[in-house]
Amino acid sequence: METSPQADKLTTVRAAVERLSSESRTADQLMSGIATLLHEQMLKYNWVGFYMLERHAQPPVLVLGHFQGAMTPHTRIHLHQGICGAAASSGRTVVVDDVSKDSRYLACSLETKSEIVVPIFVHGEVVGELDIDSHFPAAFAADDQHLVEHCARLVGQRLEMEPGKAN
Ligand code: SME
Repeated sequence: METSPQADKLTTVRAAVERLSSESRTADQLMSGIATLLHEQMLKYNWVGFYMLERHAQPPVLVLGHFQGAMTPHTRIHLHQGICGAAASSGRTVVVDDVSKDSRYLACSLETKSEIVVPIFVHGEVVGELDIDSHFPAAFAADDQHLVEHCARLVGQRLEMEPGKAN
């Protein structure tokens, strides 16, 4: 069966993510490795970063963790703000094909055209999220969503093995 270059790329990157996951000693190492891998290998993933939820803060806040790409002004995001807040508070992946048409969008870079944010769960609770911005409109198709959701799942599973780290 013929495969497209995009499908081949996703398969290669998914295999690299599996390797990273088995080689990383901590969730922290895994998140750092995923940010670097996706940013380097997926050419339309122009900013890749993790936000972790400080659920006991008053009010709870998403705090920027490992990321690759330009520095963002949004290092702390409340749950009622942005695409990031929407994904964390709903516990659902949010894909925005055209950020200029989404009133929730908090601008990171003028070049950003589309975005995906995937929540990370530990024992059923949102503990953070994986956020990716692209300079291309509608950069995140179903296959990309599956890859990013897989990365978020691996991080959640690793955090479950590190009690006390996930809050
Ligand atoms: N665009 C995000 C803010 C984070 S930056 O993309 C890195 C949002 O709307 O929540």
